[in-house]
Amino acid sequence: YNEVLSLCERYREQFFIGAAVNQYTIDTQQELLKKHFNSITAENEMKFENLQPEEGKFTFAVADKLVSFAKENHKQVRGHTLVWHNQTPDWVFTNKNGSFADRKTVLERMNTHISEVVKRYKDDLYCWDVVNEVVTDEGPKLLRESKWLETIGEDFIDKAFEFAHQVDPDALLFYNDYNESDPTKRDKIYTLVKGLKERGVPIHGVGLQAHWNVSSPSYDDIRRAIEKYATLELQIQLTEMDVSVFEFGDKRKDLKKPTEEMLGAQAERYEEFFNIFREYSDVITGVTFWGAADDYTWLSDFPVKGRKNWPLLFDEQHQPKQSFWRIMEF
Ligand code: G3I
Repeated sequence: YNEVLSLCERYREQFFIGAAVNQYTIDTQQELLKKHFNSITAENEMKFENLQPEEGKFTFAVADKLVSFAKENHKQVRGHTLVWHNQTPDWVFTNKNGSFADRKTVLERMNTHISEVVKRYKDDLYCWDVVNEVVTDEGPKLLRESKWLETIGEDFIDKAFEFAHQVDPDALLFYNDYNESDPTKRDKIYTLVKGLKERGVPIHGVGLQAHWNVSSPSYDDIRRAIEKYATLELQIQLTEMDVSVFEFGDKRKDLKKPTEEMLGAQAERYEEFFNIFREYSDVITGVTFWGAADDYTWLSDFPVKGRKNWPLLFDEQHQPKQSFWRIMEF
């Protein structure tokens, strides 16, 4: 196994290769992380509820540990994420008496959070997913209903980028979202980001999450998304990639291990997606996987509770899968 080439070395000329880590995998998958990935993202540990569970009470210990690991091993760190509708504590939007806080209060809280967090990691993180998933999947409207939108109004997005830029003008600031393969959502994301650019909001990149599966999305739709966002003249990164071995609607819960057929299909998908990424390596600056090996993945519980999944490049024993070999061959 020591003779196996390193994935991030193989891709050094194209883009960096990242993995999401958490407080468990940082210990249990160390060798793999050290060898194959030159960037890490905290899966949950830098989200609002983890960094400031109560107003003014910042808890940086676990995030700090991930950052130290990265520094000791010369890895870049992507920051994830400052403003999201999920994993944000209710106090942010609420007065002491339980009523909704006003615009000014929530804006101040947002500013304080972003400033403290971005300042703390200024020397260690090179980019941030400043705003995550604000575009709605439903209907003709652009923005998703959220407490951020309700309390601050539509400019909460501009403000978030401005606050982050004020504290760290060198950080690359990303808008991150999913379902960019869907033509309607793809266009909405484009409209949002184009608007930010036109208003002079400091934004430098678009993150495509890339939670895909063995049959969806189509290669053409991904190609179209990359081409469309490339016209915005921003960096593009694949920020949370995994390829589920289950198609949408497959609800089987009883599989103890994936079939050879599933693994073959998955390898085929990874190969073809990476062919596309390499074609656009002038605009794509990073590909991050949402995990490193199949012993830990958020998909082993989602969307089917209690179902194991095997969406990553390395198996449960941290050995390279077919998918790994196929993206190494070019
Ligand atoms: O920390 C608590 C623990 O104290 C509690 O006992 C346990 C019981 O359920 O829950 C733990 O929190 C879980 C947390 O992950 C940490 O493990 C939450 O329930 C669980 O919902 C949470 O899921 C995370 C999810 O974001 C939340 O929306 C996933 O790990 C994480 O992979 C996922 O990541 C997101 C990206 O940030 C944004 N894009 C989509 C992606 C996948 O959903």
